[in-house]
Amino acid sequence: MARAGSEVRSGGWRGLAPPPPMSEAQFERWVELVRRRTGMRLAPERKSFLVTSLAARMRELGCEDYDAYYALLTEGPRGAVEWALLVDRLTVHETRFFRHRPSFALIRERLLPQAPVPEALQPYRLQVWSIGCATGEEAYSLAIAIDEHLSRLGGRYYFGITATDISLSALATARRGRYPGKRLDRVSPDQRARYFRRVAPDTWEVVPELRKRVCFAQLNVLELARAPLAPMDLIFCQNVLIYFDRAQREAVLAEVVRRLAPGGMLVLGPGELVGWRHPELERVHYPDTLAFRRVARAGGGAA
Ligand SMILES: C[S@@+](CC[C@H](N)C(=O)[O-])C[C@H]1O[C@@H](n2cnc3c(N)ncnc32)[C@H](O)[C@@H]1O
Repeated sequence: MARAGSEVRSGGWRGLAPPPPMSEAQFERWVELVRRRTGMRLAPERKSFLVTSLAARMRELGCEDYDAYYALLTEGPRGAVEWALLVDRLTVHETRFFRHRPSFALIRERLLPQAPVPEALQPYRLQVWSIGCATGEEAYSLAIAIDEHLSRLGGRYYFGITATDISLSALATARRGRYPGKRLDRVSPDQRARYFRRVAPDTWEVVPELRKRVCFAQLNVLELARAPLAPMDLIFCQNVLIYFDRAQREAVLAEVVRRLAPGGMLVLGPGELVGWRHPELERVHYPDTLAFRRVARAGGGAA
């Protein structure tokens, strides 16, 4: 286990002793580190959340001092490993299948009907990206909605979903694709029968045919400029940017738009970035949703 300096002592802080107090200066320093590395803005009222999250991890390490733990996190390869563990505790992974139903209705009614009729010579291809996919429910919901639609059409088709998140532990759960029955409350009986199989009394696993359509990868949305992603026909970004300040949301979305194919659709959470405009996007109006389509430039290409 990683250790930093003399202040990180094995067993130095035991049991359920309250976390050590955090000064305002220390809080500011941690807020800045988290903001710089994840985009998340920790408001003053979230200080107790930060303290509890740090304390839980520091307790495991036997570290009693926030500054010593800060040093451990920010130094060298050991710091990178430790950061990957801490970030799981600082990020919110709440999600569910078909979480925002109007957004799924939107893609069923406005995006998928554009799939060509089965007689088309080329197989229909759809590339999808789920940003901030957490434990995978959003990505598998997209796969189910798309597969249901395209298989009904009966033609040749291919779709692939790239699902990314900053949290390695969330991604590991996503890749396993196993969920307790109560998490499937929005999955219809037909969908459950077709896209899941029971692997334990209360555990359902996404069938391999659907799992192989989804590729999970770690990606920090603050580092999109370095991400080699193909042009996407559909990008889903919900409940990720709400933790960022407005300037950062806009900066991330500018990079996201660059990865949207001409005619492709960007579906945000309804409160993700109210009042936002982008010169290459036109708003798609559909009740209770916040969605855009990338306009193709005259002459065929997009910027
Ligand atoms: C509340 S979940 C949203 C899950 C899903 N999109 C939904 O709406 O149900 C937010 C996810 O964003 C991820 N996240 C937070 N900051 C991130 C960043 N900088 N880069 C990539 N993912 C991030 C978290 O790890 C978490 O899994």
